[in-house]
Amino acid sequence: MTVPETPAPLSGLHRLDPAARLDLLQQQRRLDERDRAVLDAGLSLPEADAMSENVVGRYALPYGIATNFLVDGEELAVPMAVEEPSVVAAASKAAKLARPGGGFRTEATPNLMGGHIQLVDVPDIAAAQRALAAAERELLAHIPIRGSLLARGGGPRSLTTRHIPHSEAGPILLVELTMDVADAMGANIVNTALEALAPLVAELTGGAVVLSILSNLCVQRLATAEVLYTWNALADSRTEGRHLQRRIVQADALAQADPHRAATHNKGILNGVEAVAMATGNDCRAVAAAAHAWAAGEGRYRGLTRWTVVPGADALPQDSLVRARDGEPSGPLLHGRLTLPLALGVAGHSTRAHPLVPVSLKLLGNPDARRLARIAAAVGLAQNLAALLALVGTGIQAGHMRLHARQVALAAGVPAGQAARVAAEMVASRRISTEAALSLHSSLAA
Ligand code: MEV
Repeated sequence: MTVPETPAPLSGLHRLDPAARLDLLQQQRRLDERDRAVLDAGLSLPEADAMSENVVGRYALPYGIATNFLVDGEELAVPMAVEEPSVVAAASKAAKLARPGGGFRTEATPNLMGGHIQLVDVPDIAAAQRALAAAERELLAHIPIRGSLLARGGGPRSLTTRHIPHSEAGPILLVELTMDVADAMGANIVNTALEALAPLVAELTGGAVVLSILSNLCVQRLATAEVLYTWNALADSRTEGRHLQRRIVQADALAQADPHRAATHNKGILNGVEAVAMATGNDCRAVAAAAHAWAAGEGRYRGLTRWTVVPGADALPQDSLVRARDGEPSGPLLHGRLTLPLALGVAGHSTRAHPLVPVSLKLLGNPDARRLARIAAAVGLAQNLAALLALVGTGIQAGHMRLHARQVALAAGVPAGQAARVAAEMVASRRISTEAALSLHSSLAA
C-alpha cells in the first residue's frame, strides 16, 4: 500500500534556527555566501528609494522556505515572503502529505498577456471593426519591440475588436491586443505597445481614445496544478483518512456554492501564491486581481480549486495531469486541481529591482516565467489543502495558537530568542496573554 518515499532534502528545517537553516541551504548548494549576505542585508535604503517615491524607510517581511515540495518530479525549496503565521508551515505540511501520491503535477499556457484601447464616439462601429481587421498586420508591425523580447520568443500576436453596445458612457469599441511577453510579467511591454497603437487606431476608426492599458485578467496565461492525496497520508491519530477526504470534498462544495465561503477559500490559496509572488519580486495585487476576476468568470464568484475523491488513479479524468505510477497506492484518492490566471515574470527591471529576487529565483532553480507560475500554482493548491484539512479536522485555531502565542510573547517584549519557549508554555497552560508571557519570561530568566 505505501509507496517507497524519498525523504525531502530539507526535512527538519523548521527545527533549526535561522543561521543553521542557512547553513543547510548552503550545504545543499542551494545558496552561497553572497546569497547569505544579500538575505542578511535585505533591501538597502538607496535601492528602496529607487523603487518608489517619498521613501523614508523599508518595511521588511519574514522570508521563509517551504519544504517538501515535489513539483513535476523536482525537489524544490520554495521561498515565501509573508507576514501571516502558519502559512509557510501549512504549505510545507501539505507538500509533505502529497509526496506518497507523487507530489504536484503542473502545466502553464504560453505567456500571453492582453490589453485594450477603449474607443468612444466611433462614427461607424462595424466599419471601424472591418478597417482594424484589415490593418491588423500593419498595426502589429508598428509596435516598437525590444530585441531582448524578440530574442526570448516574445512579440505581438493579434489585434482584435470587441463591441460593448451599452455602457454608462454609450457604445464602446475595445481594440484588444495580445502579446507574448516571454519571461516578463508584461505590464510595461503591453502598455508601451498599446500607447504606441492608440493614435493610429483613433485615426483609422475616427473614434476617441479614452484609455490604453493591459488587462490583469490574463485569461490566456493560465497555470494549473494537480495533486493526489492518499487516504492514509491524510489520516491522523484522531481521524480516519477516508473520512477526511470526504469532508474536504464537502468543504470544497461550499466554496463552489457560496461566495461568502469562496472568498475565504480563495484567500487561503492566495496566501501561498502571493507569498511566492512577493518573494520573486512580482506584483501581488495583479495576481490577486486576476484570481478574483477569474473566480467570478462564470457570473458567480466561486472557489478556484476542485477536490474530488476517485476510487483509484485509473478513475481520474482523461485530461488529468496526475497519473498512476508504479506502486501507486490504491484508492480512494483525493484529487485536487487549481487553475488560475497567473502573470509572474522573471525578467524585466521591475521584477529584478529587489536584491532578494535573484536569491529566490536561484532557490527555485532559476525557472522561466511559465515554470514559476506552475510552482506558484502548486503552492496555492497545497495551501488550500492545508487549510481545508485543518478546517475539517481540528479547526484552524489549534494550529494557529502556538504561532499566535509567539506573536503575543514578542509583542509583550520577550526577546526573540526566548519567544518560542514562552509561547509553548503559554499554549500548554492555555493562558495566552501579555501578562502570562511576561510572567513566564521572568520565571525562565530566574
Ligand atoms: C487564513 O489566512 C486562510 C484560511 O481562512 C483559508 C480557508 O479558510 O480556506 C484558513
